[in-house]
Amino acid sequence: MPLDQLPIHFAQKTDLADIHQLEKTIFGEPCYPAFFFKQAFDCWPKGLLVAKQDSSLLGYLLWVESNAQTGDAWILSLAVATQARGKGIARGLINHAIATARGESNGVIKRLLLTVAPNNLVALSLYQSMEFIILTNENDYFSPGEARLILALKL
Ligand SMILES: CC(C)(COP(=O)(O)OP(=O)(O)OC[C@H]1O[C@@H](n2cnc3c(N)ncnc32)[C@H](O)[C@@H]1OP(=O)(O)O)[C@@H](O)C(=O)NCCC(=O)NCCS
Repeated sequence: MPLDQLPIHFAQKTDLADIHQLEKTIFGEPCYPAFFFKQAFDCWPKGLLVAKQDSSLLGYLLWVESNAQTGDAWILSLAVATQARGKGIARGLINHAIATARGESNGVIKRLLLTVAPNNLVALSLYQSMEFIILTNENDYFSPGEARLILALKL
């Protein structure tokens, strides 16, 4: 099946080790530890999404509802395996998150937010192509010198 037509699934418990391995491979240290994915799986079963071909994990995304009063949800992580990039997997994962957020929340979720490093031009281009807009740039977002752009998409 062409990768841009891969079905996106809610993660199963059996995917968690592979998700953590992909996370480590792509982000290096620091990255989310293995136990975090188990907790994410338990807390947000519809937030942890995977794209798989046969049994190989090609990408994952984690999004969570953060504030019912403001209607905000956040994409906390998105990664696609190097060999599977440029084929629409990230776009598919984000579209699935958007559809789930719209469908599950009955209109409660109004915005999908995320952060991206200002020099991550590939990810920035992806988000802007999906009509996320830049809200702000925080220089020391995570720690001194760890700048992040904050982007938002109205749902
Ligand atoms: C960013 C990332 C998730 C994109 O995944 P992907 O599956 O390759 O992305 P897609 O194939 O869905 O691409 C969608 C859009 O992204 C942009 N894009 C993707 N690859 C690109 C590249 N090499 N150069 C420029 N733009 C690119 C394009 O706008 C593309 O749309 P198009 O195919 O219609 O031109 C992937 O590169 C990745 O995992 N990077 C490392 C981790 C990371 O940066 N995560 C995001 C942190 S905020």
